[in-house]
Amino acid sequence: MRHLLSTRDMPKETILGLLDRADQHKKTPPKPNLQGKILATCFFEPSTRTRLSFETAMKRLGGDVIGFHAADHTSSKKGESLQDTIRIMAQYADAIAIRHPLEGSAALAAEVSDKPVINCGDGSNQHPTQTLLDLYTIRESQGRLEGLQIALVGDLKHGRTVHSLLHTFNHFKPRIYLIAPPGLELPKQQLDELKAHGIMFSCHQTLDSIVPKLDIIYCTRIQHERFNDKIEHAELVKPYRITPELLEPAKPNLRILHPLPRLNEIDPAVDKLPHAYYFEQSQNGLYVRQAILNTVLT
Ligand code: CP
Repeated sequence: MRHLLSTRDMPKETILGLLDRADQHKKTPPKPNLQGKILATCFFEPSTRTRLSFETAMKRLGGDVIGFHAADHTSSKKGESLQDTIRIMAQYADAIAIRHPLEGSAALAAEVSDKPVINCGDGSNQHPTQTLLDLYTIRESQGRLEGLQIALVGDLKHGRTVHSLLHTFNHFKPRIYLIAPPGLELPKQQLDELKAHGIMFSCHQTLDSIVPKLDIIYCTRIQHERFNDKIEHAELVKPYRITPELLEPAKPNLRILHPLPRLNEIDPAVDKLPHAYYFEQSQNGLYVRQAILNTVLT
């Protein structure tokens, strides 16, 4: 694996190989075998988990980190192109982790970089490292990836974590339930791709009647930074807000995932329930990103 840009067309054996490697790292802290290597984290958009878990992963593997998380303090503020910024970062570092609001930005970066580029989110398009940690967490919590009943809930139009995750489902053939507020449904192209891959799905406005069937609820926030309309967030999420009452008929194995940050789509009272698994999911990001760094840098 040279670059990690997209989950589209990612072979099943590549995915499972990375998950197995992450599993080893979770069970036994890996050796510091990236000593002398440098990761550049180039974040043109805010991040807590992705950037800091990559930086922690790199340091725990013995490597070092340079980069920025406020593009306003770089020469892009003076008008430098993304490509020129990446050309320069590739002179300093051994791999580049990039987050940028433009769809396709990571692919543009990879065109001019002779070092591996890792897409940490390009607009509404893709977030492949999140998908790998999501799959890791689904497998860890359910003991398998195949044939699960999965609800994808929230802003399915703009949510890059959902788009990225869906591209891997052709390998695992879940039954999918799509729950989104009006106007924020999954784009037609993605629905067509699900049909083309023979994945069973249905679209819903509310979650309550589906809860008893589910193994996984994958909840996302409304991506208000991706559109101009003023929104009343609490009103929009009301039909599917996850509360202890909503979960009463759930199967014992149901786990709730969320890439985070959450706003008010999950009641904090849910955190204490055995169904809540989003903080374990976030922790798994460290092991999955160690596996990714060890793969692209060795
Ligand atoms: N899940 C995720 O991408 O979180 P951050 O935006 O905090 O990196």
